[in-house]
Order: sequence, then C-alpha cells, then structure tokens
Amino acid sequence: MKNLDPKITEIAKNFMIFVESVRNKFQTANPLEHLTSQMKDLGSASITEGWNKAAKIWPAIESPDNYFITMYTLLEHLRQMRKREKWLSLGAGPALYEIWLSQLTDIDFYATDISPEMCKLSENIQKGTTIANIPGKKVKKVRTFTMPMEKLGFRDGFFDQIISINALQWVPEWKKAIKEMRRVVKIDGQGYLYLITTAYPIEARNELGEKKVIADISHEAIMDELEINRFEIIFFRAILVKFGQLGIPASRYFIKAQLNLKNLESWRIRKSKLSVTLA
Ligand SMILES: C[S@@+](CC[C@H](N)C(=O)[O-])C[C@H]1O[C@@H](n2cnc3c(N)ncnc32)[C@H](O)[C@@H]1O
Repeated sequence: MKNLDPKITEIAKNFMIFVESVRNKFQTANPLEHLTSQMKDLGSASITEGWNKAAKIWPAIESPDNYFITMYTLLEHLRQMRKREKWLSLGAGPALYEIWLSQLTDIDFYATDISPEMCKLSENIQKGTTIANIPGKKVKKVRTFTMPMEKLGFRDGFFDQIISINALQWVPEWKKAIKEMRRVVKIDGQGYLYLITTAYPIEARNELGEKKVIADISHEAIMDELEINRFEIIFFRAILVKFGQLGIPASRYFIKAQLNLKNLESWRIRKSKLSVTLA
C-alpha cells in the first residue's frame, strides 16, 4: 500500500498484534469447509445458527490485510466529539475493532450481534486478553447484546454514533436495519454512521443446492436508503484487498454518513468522486 500516514499505520499495526494473538487461538485445519457448511438453509433462524457455528473460527477466517485496512480506515475517519460517548456496533461478531478502539478512547461501545455464540466469543476474548505491549493491563469492557439489527432493544436517540463492519450485507431486511439506525441515533449529537459492506450481493445455497441471494445490496442502494432515513453521505470509498478472507480477493465499501434533518444534499447531485484504497 502506498501513501499511508505513518502515525495511523503505527496504531493499526499495534491493533494487528492484538488480532494475531487472538487469531492464533482460532486456527483450524480446514476453514473453508467449515465456512461453506455453515449456510445450509436460508431461513433467518438458520442464518443465526450458521453464525453460531462460524463463531468457533471466525477470527481466523477474516484476513490480516482486511483487519489492517479496516482499522486504518476507521482510524482515519472516526471522530469522538464528547466525553464518554455511547457507540453502537451492529453485527459486531467478536468485536475486535470495538475492543481495541475502546482501549484508545473513553467511548462506551455496545456491541450487538444476532448470534449468541458470537457474543460469547467476544466475552471470552475480552476475559482472556491483555492488551499487547502493556502486560497485565486489563481490557476495558465492551458490552455485548444478542439482538437482530432489524429490531434493536434500545430506546430512541440512545447512541451518539454507530459503526457496522462487514455485516449489513448478511441481513435480508437491511432496510429495516437502516431505519433502526435512524431511530436509535441522537438527533442533537454528531449522528455519524460508519459502514463497511461488501461490494456485491451475498449468495448462499439452500438444501437443494440452489443459489439464493441473502441481501441484494449495492453501495448505491445503501446510500439511497441512508438518505431516505436522513443520513447524508459525507464520504465513500472502495477498499480492494488482494488477500481477503481465505486468501480470496475482497472488495468492500466504506461509507461515512451523518444525520442531517435540515438541508441534506444528495450524493447523486453532489456527484462525489469514488476514491479507492488498495491493500
Ligand atoms: C462477517 S461477520 C463480521 C463480524 C465483525 N463485524 C467483523 O468485522 O469481524 C458478520 C456478523 O454479522 C452478524 N449478523 C448477521 N445477521 C445479523 C442480523 N440480522 N443482526 C445482527 N447481526 C447479524 C453475524 O452473526 C456475524 O457476527
């Protein structure tokens, strides 16, 4: 990768020490088989079941380059405005980003996920980890909540900011999830939303071997839906990674949006240029 900011790179590299220490505990002989066996049926209960199984090895499936470039992108763009802000994470999985970011800041993260096993995994990682470079320093707690992002158990306007990394594309009713983001974000706060999603619809096979699209999602459709829910697109970028999950190339989008109830200008009118990061 070219033109990286050395200060941000150093922090992202420290994050990678933490990630590697977790990944080492989750290596498996055949991760591909494990991953592809997880989504047999496409009902929403079995999608959860699939993620419960994936929780056994998830940190080892996500690639180091994906972890690095995701953390780098977050560090470049996240802005904490007030002390002790409450941040919601949707589809947090093991919540490695959230655990690390909460050591650097005083943000209170609420990590939510539909899979109870993913939440348990995050709890176990937090119990069993000391922060790299600071032996004995206890990990600050990230609270975990098992709930679907389409129906969140938080009151209106509870959160200052929201992140969701690599999860929205797995939600058939992703438009409902965006409505929920709008509902739970504070209207008198900064109202930032940081999303990373894949750049293509996710497909899985049902028991007859037929392919079905889980969520037909594109970055344009997401950005239009965000605007319908009064989130203005501040910035978006493609992230292309040569060695993604299981060594397969990955293409994702990063979208930063902000609640704007007054004079939202559409990204389609502004014709913002798409930037690209290659890793
Ligand atoms: C690809 S993993 C990403 C995990 C984590 N954000 C990361 O980047 O390492 C997707 C996560 O989304 C969760 N998920 C899937 N559908 C969901 C839903 N409807 N509501 C909440 N979480 C969901 C899964 O359980 C899984 O942990």
